[in-house]
Amino acid sequence: MSPDASVWSERYRNANTPWDHGAAHPELERLLAEGRLAPPRPGARALVPGCGRGHDALALMDAGWEVTAIEFAPEAHAIVQAALAGKGGRALCADALAHAPLEPYDLLWEHTFFCALDPADRPRYAEFAQRVLRPGGLLAALVFPVGKGSETGGPPWGYDSSDLERELGAAFALRESGPARETIGERAWREDFALFERLP
Ligand SMILES: C[S@@+](CC[C@H](N)C(=O)[O-])C[C@H]1O[C@@H](n2cnc3c(N)ncnc32)[C@H](O)[C@@H]1O
Repeated sequence: MSPDASVWSERYRNANTPWDHGAAHPELERLLAEGRLAPPRPGARALVPGCGRGHDALALMDAGWEVTAIEFAPEAHAIVQAALAGKGGRALCADALAHAPLEPYDLLWEHTFFCALDPADRPRYAEFAQRVLRPGGLLAALVFPVGKGSETGGPPWGYDSSDLERELGAAFALRESGPARETIGERAWREDFALFERLP
Protein backbone atom coordinates (compact mmCIF):
# COMPACT_ATOMS: atom_id res chain seq x y z
CA MET A 1 0.00 0.00 0.00
CA SER A 2 1.49 3.37 -0.92
CA PRO A 3 1.87 5.61 2.10
CA ASP A 4 -0.38 8.64 2.39
CA ALA A 5 0.96 11.53 4.45
CA SER A 6 -2.13 13.71 4.05
CA VAL A 7 -4.10 12.15 6.93
CA TRP A 8 -1.14 12.64 9.27
CA SER A 9 -0.50 16.17 7.99
CA GLU A 10 -4.06 17.10 8.81
CA ARG A 11 -3.59 15.74 12.33
CA TYR A 12 -0.53 17.96 12.85
CA ARG A 13 -2.29 20.99 11.33
CA ASN A 14 -5.19 20.51 13.76
CA ALA A 15 -2.93 19.66 16.71
CA ASN A 16 -4.87 16.38 16.94
CA THR A 17 -1.86 14.32 18.05
CA PRO A 18 -2.84 12.38 21.20
CA TRP A 19 0.21 10.08 20.85
CA ASP A 20 2.55 13.03 21.48
CA HIS A 21 3.25 13.59 25.15
CA GLY A 22 5.64 16.45 24.58
CA ALA A 23 8.72 14.52 25.65
CA ALA A 24 10.76 11.45 24.82
CA HIS A 25 9.19 8.15 25.84
CA PRO A 26 10.11 7.47 29.50
CA GLU A 27 11.23 3.92 28.66
CA LEU A 28 13.74 5.34 26.18
CA GLU A 29 14.89 7.84 28.81
CA ARG A 30 15.38 4.96 31.27
CA LEU A 31 17.29 2.79 28.81
CA LEU A 32 19.56 5.71 27.93
CA ALA A 33 20.09 6.72 31.57
CA GLU A 34 21.02 3.13 32.46
CA GLY A 35 23.44 2.92 29.52
CA ARG A 36 21.41 0.06 28.02
CA LEU A 37 21.13 1.87 24.67
CA ALA A 38 24.46 3.68 24.78
CA PRO A 39 26.24 4.32 21.47
CA PRO A 40 28.72 1.45 21.01
CA ARG A 41 31.40 3.83 19.71
CA PRO A 42 31.84 7.52 18.83
CA GLY A 43 29.89 8.32 15.68
CA ALA A 44 27.44 5.43 16.11
CA ARG A 45 24.29 6.05 14.08
CA ALA A 46 20.66 5.78 15.10
CA LEU A 47 17.54 5.96 12.93
CA VAL A 48 14.12 7.12 14.13
CA PRO A 49 11.42 6.42 11.50
CA GLY A 50 8.02 8.12 11.78
CA CYS A 51 9.61 10.43 14.34
CA GLY A 52 6.71 12.88 14.69
CA ARG A 53 7.90 16.05 16.42
CA GLY A 54 11.22 14.38 17.23
CA HIS A 55 11.25 14.05 21.04
CA ASP A 56 12.85 10.58 20.96
CA ALA A 57 15.32 11.65 18.27
CA LEU A 58 16.50 14.53 20.46
CA ALA A 59 16.92 12.25 23.49
CA LEU A 60 19.07 9.89 21.40
CA MET A 61 21.16 12.83 20.19
CA ASP A 62 21.64 14.06 23.73
CA ALA A 63 22.87 10.55 24.64
CA GLY A 64 25.58 10.77 21.98
CA TRP A 65 24.00 9.10 18.95
CA GLU A 66 24.30 10.53 15.43
CA VAL A 67 20.62 10.63 14.60
CA THR A 68 18.63 10.52 11.38
CA ALA A 69 14.93 11.22 11.96
CA ILE A 70 12.45 10.52 9.17
CA GLU A 71 8.93 11.90 9.00
CA PHE A 72 6.72 12.22 5.93
CA ALA A 73 4.23 14.81 7.29
CA PRO A 74 5.80 18.16 6.35
CA GLU A 75 4.31 19.95 9.38
CA ALA A 76 6.04 17.57 11.81
CA HIS A 77 9.19 17.37 9.72
CA ALA A 78 9.61 21.17 9.91
CA ILE A 79 9.50 20.99 13.70
CA VAL A 80 11.98 18.14 13.98
CA GLN A 81 14.30 19.72 11.43
CA ALA A 82 14.42 22.95 13.42
CA ALA A 83 15.04 21.02 16.63
CA LEU A 84 17.82 18.83 15.23
CA ALA A 85 19.52 21.42 13.03
CA GLY A 86 21.51 23.16 15.76
CA LYS A 87 22.63 19.83 17.21
CA GLY A 88 24.00 18.23 14.06
CA GLY A 89 21.18 15.76 13.53
CA ARG A 90 19.64 14.90 10.18
CA ALA A 91 15.92 15.22 9.48
CA LEU A 92 14.42 13.79 6.27
CA CYS A 93 10.93 14.43 4.93
CA ALA A 94 10.29 11.12 3.18
CA ASP A 95 8.65 7.72 3.26
CA ALA A 96 10.76 6.04 5.94
CA LEU A 97 10.10 2.58 4.51
CA ALA A 98 11.86 3.58 1.29
CA HIS A 99 14.99 4.79 3.11
CA ALA A 100 18.14 3.25 1.62
CA PRO A 101 21.16 4.58 3.54
CA LEU A 102 24.66 4.55 2.07
CA GLU A 103 25.90 3.37 5.46
CA PRO A 104 23.81 1.13 7.70
CA TYR A 105 22.73 2.17 11.19
CA ASP A 106 23.70 0.74 14.56
CA LEU A 107 20.28 1.34 16.14
CA LEU A 108 16.71 1.55 14.93
CA TRP A 109 14.40 3.07 17.54
CA GLU A 110 10.79 2.01 16.98
CA HIS A 111 8.04 3.92 18.77
CA THR A 112 4.51 4.16 17.39
CA PHE A 113 5.68 3.86 13.79
CA PHE A 114 4.94 0.16 13.20
CA CYS A 115 1.46 0.61 14.68
CA ALA A 116 0.85 3.60 12.39
CA LEU A 117 1.36 1.49 9.27
CA ASP A 118 -1.43 -0.34 7.54
CA PRO A 119 -0.86 -4.04 8.35
CA ALA A 120 -0.45 -4.62 4.60
CA ASP A 121 2.80 -2.62 4.89
CA ARG A 122 4.33 -4.85 7.58
CA PRO A 123 6.38 -6.89 5.09
CA ARG A 124 7.80 -3.59 3.81
CA TYR A 125 8.73 -2.70 7.37
CA ALA A 126 10.64 -5.98 7.73
CA GLU A 127 12.53 -5.33 4.48
CA PHE A 128 13.26 -1.79 5.65
CA ALA A 129 14.59 -2.92 9.05
CA GLN A 130 16.82 -5.53 7.42
CA ARG A 131 18.10 -3.00 4.87
CA VAL A 132 18.91 -0.14 7.23
CA LEU A 133 20.61 -2.01 10.11
CA ARG A 134 24.13 -3.38 10.06
CA PRO A 135 24.63 -7.00 11.15
CA GLY A 136 24.82 -6.86 14.93
CA GLY A 137 22.75 -3.66 14.93
CA LEU A 138 19.79 -3.37 17.28
CA LEU A 139 16.10 -2.77 16.71
CA ALA A 140 14.80 -1.43 20.02
CA ALA A 141 11.01 -1.24 20.05
CA LEU A 142 8.51 0.35 22.36
CA VAL A 143 5.73 -2.05 21.41
CA PHE A 144 2.28 -0.43 21.53
CA PRO A 145 -0.72 -0.95 21.51
CA VAL A 146 -0.48 -4.45 22.98
CA GLY A 147 -3.86 -6.12 23.38
CA LYS A 148 -5.76 -3.96 20.90
CA GLY A 149 -7.77 -6.32 18.72
CA SER A 150 -7.49 -6.15 14.93
CA GLU A 151 -11.29 -5.88 14.70
CA THR A 152 -11.00 -2.35 16.12
CA GLY A 153 -8.92 -1.25 13.12
CA GLY A 154 -6.32 1.45 13.30
CA PRO A 155 -4.16 3.37 13.47
CA PRO A 156 -2.93 2.50 15.95
CA TRP A 157 -3.00 -1.11 14.75
CA GLY A 158 -2.56 -3.55 17.64
CA TYR A 159 0.42 -5.90 17.76
CA ASP A 160 2.75 -7.51 20.24
CA SER A 161 6.41 -8.52 20.32
CA SER A 162 5.72 -11.96 18.82
CA ASP A 163 3.89 -10.34 15.88
CA LEU A 164 6.93 -8.15 15.29
CA GLU A 165 9.28 -11.13 15.68
CA ARG A 166 7.28 -13.11 13.13
CA GLU A 167 7.22 -10.19 10.70
CA LEU A 168 10.98 -9.56 10.99
CA GLY A 169 11.71 -13.20 10.27
CA ALA A 170 15.03 -15.04 10.25
CA ALA A 171 17.17 -11.93 9.77
CA PHE A 172 16.56 -10.93 13.40
CA ALA A 173 16.89 -12.58 16.81
CA LEU A 174 14.69 -11.50 19.71
CA ARG A 175 17.04 -10.81 22.62
CA GLU A 176 14.61 -9.40 25.16
CA SER A 177 10.90 -8.72 25.57
CA GLY A 178 8.49 -7.87 28.34
CA PRO A 179 6.38 -5.09 29.80
CA ALA A 180 7.96 -1.65 29.56
CA ARG A 181 9.13 -0.57 33.01
CA GLU A 182 8.38 3.08 32.28
CA THR A 183 5.12 3.80 30.50
CA ILE A 184 2.98 6.70 29.40
CA GLY A 185 0.36 6.16 32.07
CA GLU A 186 -2.75 7.38 30.31
CA ARG A 187 -2.38 5.17 27.24
CA ALA A 188 -5.36 2.91 26.69
CA TRP A 189 -3.36 -0.24 25.85
CA ARG A 190 -0.26 -1.95 27.21
CA GLU A 191 3.27 -0.91 26.33
CA ASP A 192 6.03 -3.54 26.04
CA PHE A 193 9.71 -3.29 25.22
CA ALA A 194 11.43 -5.63 22.76
CA LEU A 195 15.04 -5.76 21.64
CA PHE A 196 16.03 -7.49 18.38
CA GLU A 197 19.50 -8.05 16.95
CA ARG A 198 20.07 -7.96 13.22
CA LEU A 199 21.81 -11.21 12.37
CA PRO A 200 24.74 -11.46 9.91
C1 LIG B 1 1.50 7.78 15.79
S1 LIG B 1 2.62 8.93 15.12
C2 LIG B 1 4.05 8.73 16.18
C3 LIG B 1 5.08 9.81 16.06
C4 LIG B 1 6.30 9.64 16.97
N1 LIG B 1 6.90 8.34 16.82
C5 LIG B 1 5.89 9.88 18.40
O1 LIG B 1 5.88 8.94 19.18
O2 LIG B 1 5.59 11.05 18.73
C6 LIG B 1 3.14 8.13 13.62
C7 LIG B 1 4.04 9.02 12.78
O3 LIG B 1 4.56 8.30 11.69
C8 LIG B 1 4.50 9.12 10.53
N2 LIG B 1 4.50 8.19 9.38
C9 LIG B 1 3.57 7.24 9.10
N3 LIG B 1 3.93 6.53 8.00
C10 LIG B 1 5.13 7.05 7.61
C11 LIG B 1 6.02 6.73 6.57
N4 LIG B 1 5.75 5.73 5.69
N5 LIG B 1 7.17 7.43 6.47
C12 LIG B 1 7.46 8.43 7.34
N6 LIG B 1 6.64 8.80 8.35
C13 LIG B 1 5.49 8.09 8.50
C14 LIG B 1 3.25 9.94 10.71
O4 LIG B 1 3.25 11.11 9.94
C15 LIG B 1 3.30 10.23 12.20
O5 LIG B 1 4.03 11.39 12.49
